[in-house]
Amino acid sequence: MEDHNEMLKFYFRWPDAILDAIQRSQELPSLTKPSLLAVIGMGGSAIGGDLLRDLLYNQSDVPIYTCRDYHLPAWVGPNSLVIAVSYSGNTEETLMAFSEAFKRGCKLVAITSGGILGQLCTELKVPIVRIPKGYPPRAALPYLFIPMCVLGERVGLAKGLIDQAKKAAKTLRSMLVSIREKAKRIAKRLVGTIPVIYGFGIFKSVAYRLKTQFNENSKVPSFANWFPALNHDEVVGWEGEEELLEKFSVILIRSQDEPLEIKRRIELTREVALHKVSEILEIWSKGKTPLEQMMSVLLLGEIASICLALLRRVDPLKVRTIDIIKKHMLELQFSEDIRRRLLKLQGRYKVTITL
Ligand code: PA5
Repeated sequence: MEDHNEMLKFYFRWPDAILDAIQRSQELPSLTKPSLLAVIGMGGSAIGGDLLRDLLYNQSDVPIYTCRDYHLPAWVGPNSLVIAVSYSGNTEETLMAFSEAFKRGCKLVAITSGGILGQLCTELKVPIVRIPKGYPPRAALPYLFIPMCVLGERVGLAKGLIDQAKKAAKTLRSMLVSIREKAKRIAKRLVGTIPVIYGFGIFKSVAYRLKTQFNENSKVPSFANWFPALNHDEVVGWEGEEELLEKFSVILIRSQDEPLEIKRRIELTREVALHKVSEILEIWSKGKTPLEQMMSVLLLGEIASICLALLRRVDPLKVRTIDIIKKHMLELQFSEDIRRRLLKLQGRYKVTITL
């Protein structure tokens, strides 16, 4: 297996990227506490919204919502804080939702490396966290997610998030020494199977994110779900025939802090339902604080998805199918529609937008 793959280098930078992302977020202005926090974005740029929602589930009295669509829900309005996230700055769904948020008078902040979104924010005087270019969007997760934590703390959604992020950087750094070997061991067990990842609590969207990394990096189908929900429907599917189930492997995300009822559900599911799958693996979180725990599972799981790509002799960097669809979509009317919307903003707010 190629140990010095280009993609791996980005993940080895995560501890530094967390600290750099905190630094880059310092420029954000002070904002008042909103009644709703909505994150708009797609794919690797959207997941930070879900991670923040799970992280603050027990702390924030402000609902957190991720919009992965062209249009914002009707209930996003002037008292909402909208964070527009697009690594490239050119994703059409995000641009469309951004223009809606601007028109509705939402408070806006953007996280991007540039593109049309970067240009628009400069023109419209929307505060921006500018992140470095040159990463594949998913490998830039600390840059796309940590600024949301900083902002969350700034607007009073929760305390101590910046501190947790600094601790996460330290924990991740300590993991780097042995992570490649651990990730390889996981990947070897996943070869030839469809990984299904199960989380709970703060690990619900961590499970979903890992599923997307097996899709994008390893180029395999993969699915995610969480406890206790999966015990009320999905679990019955594991009663299926052996020839079908042996195509799957299950990754259970575990934590020393898991509540008793979740621990019991994981054990029961393993005993009664998962005996026919090819492999059952566990990824245990590291660290004391929730953010450290989430980031530690993400780092190991994501590096495992790259190791799986290398074992399968596919390039973890390339996402050919996403690129093809984006290219075809550019030819259709949506891009033209967004362009019209942006030009309308240009007329109304007297800004110059070069498209
Ligand atoms: O990982 C990827 O490349 C994708 O999931 C992208 O993040 C997604 O297509 C959105 O693009 P962007 O992050 O540039 O807005």
